[in-house]
Amino acid sequence: MPVSQLQRLEAALAAVRKTTDRTPDTALILGSGLGQLADAVADPVAVGYEEIAGFPVSTAPGHAGRLVFGRLHGREAVLMQGRFHLYEGWAPRDIALAVYLLQRLGARRLIVTNAAGALNESYGPGEVMAIADHMNFTGSDPLTGANDEAIGPRFPDLSRAYDPALRALVRAAAERAGQPLQEGIYAGVAGPSLETSAERRFYRASGADAVGMSTVHETIAAAHVGLPVIGLSAITNKATGGPDQQPDTIEEVIANAAVSGRKIAAILAELLPALPA
Ligand code: HPA
Repeated sequence: MPVSQLQRLEAALAAVRKTTDRTPDTALILGSGLGQLADAVADPVAVGYEEIAGFPVSTAPGHAGRLVFGRLHGREAVLMQGRFHLYEGWAPRDIALAVYLLQRLGARRLIVTNAAGALNESYGPGEVMAIADHMNFTGSDPLTGANDEAIGPRFPDLSRAYDPALRALVRAAAERAGQPLQEGIYAGVAGPSLETSAERRFYRASGADAVGMSTVHETIAAAHVGLPVIGLSAITNKATGGPDQQPDTIEEVIANAAVSGRKIAAILAELLPALPA
C-alpha cells in the first residue's frame, strides 16, 4: 500500500513528539546562507531531519538539516535550518510535507527566507526584499496527485499568498530597525543551473523582481493548510540578464546572503514581538 501524505505527516509528527512537546506559534524556513539566523534562538532543542520518519535530508550548501525549537525574540518558534529544494531531487510533495509538519507542530504563521538574484535593475546585492507575490516557473506543484481533504482543499486560493496584513507589519518592523526594504515579486525556478540571460530578461518582462530556487512550493503548501506566509528574500547577485550581466558564483551568493541575513535578523528582531498572538 502506498503511504499517503497524511500518513507521512502523522509519522513525522509522532517522531518529533518523541523529542519535544514544544508548540511554536511561529515557523521560519532559513534559506541558503541564512542558517545563522538560528544562532539567536534561546533555550534551543534541535531535532535532526534524520530522526524524523519520512523526512528528506537537506544537502544544499549553507544548509544544516534540522528543526530548531526555542524562543526567538520572545516568541516560541521553530526553525527549519536547511530546506528541501527541487534541485536536490526532492519531490514537490516532500517540500509540502515539511510545511504541513510545521503547522501541525502549532505554527500559526510561516516566515520563509531565501537567497535570490535581482531581476529588478534597481535592486542591489546585500539588500532585502519582502515578497509581495510569487510566480511559479518550476513547472511543478506540490499538490499534484490525490488530494486529502483532511490536509486541505483540492483547489486552495492563492490570491493573497503572502499575507498583506503581515507584510504591513514587516514594513513597519523594517522601518523601526532602520533597514531599507524592497517589496517585489519572486519568480521561483527549479534550478540548479542558473538562468540564461534571455530567461532573466523574460522573467523581468513578466513582472518579477527577484528569482530563486525555493519558496514557491512551501507557500503553496502553506496556503493548502491555511497558514499565512511572510516571505523575505536576501538579494545576493544581479540577475538582470542585461549587457552588463556578470557570471554568478556560489561564493558571491553565500557572501551576500550573509550581508542581507544580518539585515533580515534585524527586521525579525522587531517583527517577531509585534506579530499577533
Ligand atoms: N537565480 C536563481 N536562484 C538564485 C539566484 C539567481 O540568480 N541567486 C540566488 N539564488
